[in-house]
Amino acid sequence: MIGCMSCWIRCTMDPDLRTGQPVEVDLVPATAGERAVLWSMMREELADQFERITQVLGLSWEEFEAHYATRGEACTLRRGGEVAGYCWIELRERELHLHAIMVLPGQRGRGIGSAALRRLEAEFRDHADVIELGVSHDNPRARSLYERVGFVVVTTLHDVGYDIMRKPLTEVPLA
Ligand SMILES: CC(C)(COP(=O)(O)OP(=O)(O)OC[C@H]1O[C@@H](n2cnc3c(N)ncnc32)[C@H](O)[C@@H]1OP(=O)(O)O)[C@@H](O)C(=O)NCCC(=O)NCCS
Repeated sequence: MIGCMSCWIRCTMDPDLRTGQPVEVDLVPATAGERAVLWSMMREELADQFERITQVLGLSWEEFEAHYATRGEACTLRRGGEVAGYCWIELRERELHLHAIMVLPGQRGRGIGSAALRRLEAEFRDHADVIELGVSHDNPRARSLYERVGFVVVTTLHDVGYDIMRKPLTEVPLA
């Protein structure tokens, strides 16, 4: 009963659940300002996990920031023209690395993260064979999303409490 009630409340409040329309997002290159916002969000929300990774890589935060400035691309997720979040991606050979995805706090749980992953798959299907990402053991929300859309764990980095997950975009085997 509680489940039904919470579903009813969500359906009443969320136009996408009410109409059953899938959420759509556009993925556009981030402006310099948006890039800076993504960096602050990552610093704030993913500090623990990035701290562990930078330690293992032997990087200071400043060096990691320089890495962010020079590697890959920051993109803005736009829904109906409005900013809904950001992601940081890097295409290496035929592998697309999703370094981070951040949906704006007030927009979470509405299908935007799922729509962003669908959009990445569609845009990179011709350029990449696989999407790879890392997920911290203390981030069940992100893990649940990745598993639901078909990512599977291929390696566990025990020292940083991190799993590497991959999803093939072609019929090429996962490993
Ligand atoms: C992890 C994160 C990107 C997920 O984004 P999101 O927009 O909340 O993801 P979704 O809304 O697509 O999915 C979240 C849940 O909402 C539910 N949902 C609600 N409305 C939905 C809709 N209209 N369509 C699809 N799913 C919907 C889904 O069932 C899903 O639950 P599940 O994954 O347990 O099955 C977001 O929580 C976030 O930015 N977290 C902080 C940063 C972070 O941890 N990033 C990942 C590491 S870099």
